[in-house]
Amino acid sequence: MKLFLDSADVDEVRKGISLGVVTGVTTNPSLAAKAGVGGMESYKAAVQEIANMVDGPISVEVISTDVEGMITEGEDIATWISNPWVKIPSTLDGFKAMSTLAANGIKINQTLCFSVNQAILGAQAGATAVSPFVGRLDDVGQDGIGLVSEIVDIYLSYGIQTEVLAASIRHPLHCVQAASAGAHIATVPYNVLVDMAKHPLTDQGVQRFLNDWGKSSAN
Ligand code: E4P
Repeated sequence: MKLFLDSADVDEVRKGISLGVVTGVTTNPSLAAKAGVGGMESYKAAVQEIANMVDGPISVEVISTDVEGMITEGEDIATWISNPWVKIPSTLDGFKAMSTLAANGIKINQTLCFSVNQAILGAQAGATAVSPFVGRLDDVGQDGIGLVSEIVDIYLSYGIQTEVLAASIRHPLHCVQAASAGAHIATVPYNVLVDMAKHPLTDQGVQRFLNDWGKSSAN
């Protein structure tokens, strides 16, 4: 399973990329606002700065909700950087926009996916990746990882090429579960990426090796 960083914060992305384990980045309007990125021009500037740090795809979300607006924005976003995935929501207008953009060779990250049916529609519309929102489903008492698993199984049964990108990841266990379910990618916030590395026995082990080394050197 590939790991993407879920952030629009340039400094945070720089730290995440420096770990050498991240191959893409996902952004959205909320993440941009959280990073203090206001307005389309500064969103574009942040995305371009991020694209200079990572070769893999950078997902950038449209703000429009109507078909024509999403297509116009998607075509524009596609010119910002060399490896864009345009994020389009799983709405009726969104599927129309996805199919037009995908037919024109623009890569789509189908976002805000909360059902298998939406994932089936996105695949037919030509989405490069579908993003089931794990944490937000868990928040309303539904099984977010269960949805990832169902989509993976159905795509496999039909040889569908659309990649399953587990999104709205809240903690390291979600990453383990997304990988077990067969997700191609998980996009993780920086704090979750850091938590994935942590284990108390690793820290204790490093300390014990250092202590033992210190004792043997003293002899
Ligand atoms: C990424 O593509 C999604 O927009 C993001 O993971 C959503 O996360 P949230 O549910 O924590 O806002």
